[in-house]
Amino acid sequence: MGSLSTANNIADLRALAKKRLPRMVFDYIDGGADDEITLGDNPSRYSDYKLMFKTLVDVASIDMSTTVMGAKSAAPIIVTPTAAQRLFHPRGGESAVARAAQKAGLIYCLSTLGSASIERIAELTDGPKWFQVYVWKDKAIVEKALERARKAGFTGVILTVDVPVAGNRERDHVNAFTIPPKINAKTVSQVLARPGYLFDMLSTPEIIAANWADMDTGGMGIIEFLNSQFDRSVTWEDARWMKEIWGGPFAVKGICRADDAQRCVEIGADAVWISNHGGRQLDTSPATIDTLPDIVAAVRGQAEIILDGGIRRGTDIIKALALGANAVAVGRPYLYGLGAAGEAGVSHALNFLMTSLERDMALTGVSKLSDLTADFVRRP
Ligand code: FNR
Ligand code: LAC
Repeated sequence: MGSLSTANNIADLRALAKKRLPRMVFDYIDGGADDEITLGDNPSRYSDYKLMFKTLVDVASIDMSTTVMGAKSAAPIIVTPTAAQRLFHPRGGESAVARAAQKAGLIYCLSTLGSASIERIAELTDGPKWFQVYVWKDKAIVEKALERARKAGFTGVILTVDVPVAGNRERDHVNAFTIPPKINAKTVSQVLARPGYLFDMLSTPEIIAANWADMDTGGMGIIEFLNSQFDRSVTWEDARWMKEIWGGPFAVKGICRADDAQRCVEIGADAVWISNHGGRQLDTSPATIDTLPDIVAAVRGQAEIILDGGIRRGTDIIKALALGANAVAVGRPYLYGLGAAGEAGVSHALNFLMTSLERDMALTGVSKLSDLTADFVRRP
């Protein structure tokens, strides 16, 4: 796609995705909960942290490689789990994202609500991959899914804990948005305005929650399905149970507070994943970068720390790492790329982040990740 070459950053990819996707699909990616305060704060708070660069350091060779929860990665950037990726590119979907992640040497996370199955992803990529889960009412079903993930070569499991119920995304209400999208009075003009997308959607299989294809969903959409399956009474004991039955590398995603981070350590989690679901759940929860220092202090090196939310440039990654994260994860950056141009767009987004991280490490005066210490950041 010619226009990709003009995308100099994630904001440019976002603009391209907006042109290519029906409004309701773009809004599902782009939007957040309530007044979208947290959605805005996640990226914007980075500008209040200033980088104290070092000079005359030998940066002839920069090493960005690392290991997170035992998985090797070319850079401290994880492709975060997002639901139903075929919605954003009906032909490519999860396959496009998983392949681009493998080419970049990064860890791919498959959402429990993915539109491709665990087995399909395993066929496509032998790169590092993790599977994201929720605790569902029927624990036996979760157990079965973990067994499938293990067999398929997924090495890590991520338990997402910031969705006891779906957040209030008002753009989705305005658009009468569902997964899969339904054509109704509100959406018909949006879809007709994007004939290329409509053609791809109509000429490919229906978007379903591929990992639960054998469950009777009674014609429910993916979000309704999720709400109906969620066990709202889940507690730390269930998280411990899940870590135990999985047995392997295990992260708890959606942590905001130092005391919860300590609980992650107590239940034996290998990673504390700081996240507010990209501002899609509880609005006015703090920007993730602002919660990082307290969580690092509470965890005291007893677990790895992953942070997501608002990462758009190399400098954002450097700040998170300098303040104690082992890696960051990104959602919208690659989703905008996927919406803009499928696999090539995802690669464009990941390459942009990796190239800018490398350049910004050189400018900051560090040649390897372990050199990034808190003194590089002046906190607000
Ligand atoms: C998400 N996120 C998410 N998280 C999760 O654990 N399971 C999921 O199925 C989804 N689905 C999902 C869909 C879409 C469209 C978005 C944008 C996000 C949250 C995601 O993993 C991550 O926490 C945020 O996207 C990080 O913020 P940024 O990078 O998008 O700013
Ligand atoms: C979302 C859910 C599916 O953020 O995690 O849309």
